Amino acid sequence: MTVERAAELLSAAHSGLAMTGAGVSAESGIPTFRGEGGIWTRYDPVKVASIDAFLEDPAAYWRVSRERGGIALAARPNPGHYALASLEAAGLLVAIATQNTDGLHQDSGCRNVIELHGSSRTVRCLDCGAREARSDVQARLEVEMPPRCKACGGIFLKPTVVLFGEPMPLPAVQEAFALARAADVMLVVGTSLVVHPAADIPLAAVRSGARLIVVNAEPTSFDSLAEVVIHGRSGEVLPEIVSRLDA
Ligand code: OAD
Repeated sequence: MTVERAAELLSAAHSGLAMTGAGVSAESGIPTFRGEGGIWTRYDPVKVASIDAFLEDPAAYWRVSRERGGIALAARPNPGHYALASLEAAGLLVAIATQNTDGLHQDSGCRNVIELHGSSRTVRCLDCGAREARSDVQARLEVEMPPRCKACGGIFLKPTVVLFGEPMPLPAVQEAFALARAADVMLVVGTSLVVHPAADIPLAAVRSGARLIVVNAEPTSFDSLAEVVIHGRSGEVLPEIVSRLDA
């Protein structure tokens, strides 16, 4: 019933917006941050994923990042990503705002992806600004720790992701909030909605009159605001919704 209702709302959407989090990539093999198997159950984010920790000890950062980076580089989109791409292609979503940095929405064919927390596929030297593909740096990690900038030799090579203590990319945040305020349907998928300001995006949509759909493995604090709540795996639930869209 809830899947049907979600399909009904999305079928009528003119300015739908999706916001995703780590849960949407869980079925691609990338661990989430919180909850069962979450990486923040093993590491303290302030110690391993803050800009201060990175600047103090880039090698310590890379030792943790090496594992997740390797998994993310090898990952492929799952049926949840493809379902979102088909909602966008059908004109029912105008964009996918994501907290993920893995690039899997783009790989699944989504055209308008707003990366709220940056991208882990590129690495930038904080000293000279040179950029490199993450895959090239990843290959060097076995022999060089921390990895050095190929252009200037500096040791502050940082993935172009937002670390704790860093500002979010302003254009992405502004675009996501503008689309949220204009949205008639807001689809939230695979996020615990505890990290701000990303979690404020669906709130802005609801306050401006959007109907909220939440698809998440566990309950979230936004469930009470939603018209449709589906607790399940996005790789299963989203294709089901797509299969029930009005022709
Ligand atoms: P979290 O790990 O906090 O939450 C992921 C959510 O996805 C949880 O509520 C899970 O129940 C749910 N989930 C797990 N598997 C799922 C599946 N197959 N289908 C649907 N839902 C599933 O991840 P985010 O909310 O994305 O920030 O975390 C937000 C931010 O916190 C991240 O972007 C990152 C992190 O620290 C930075 O690095 C700045």
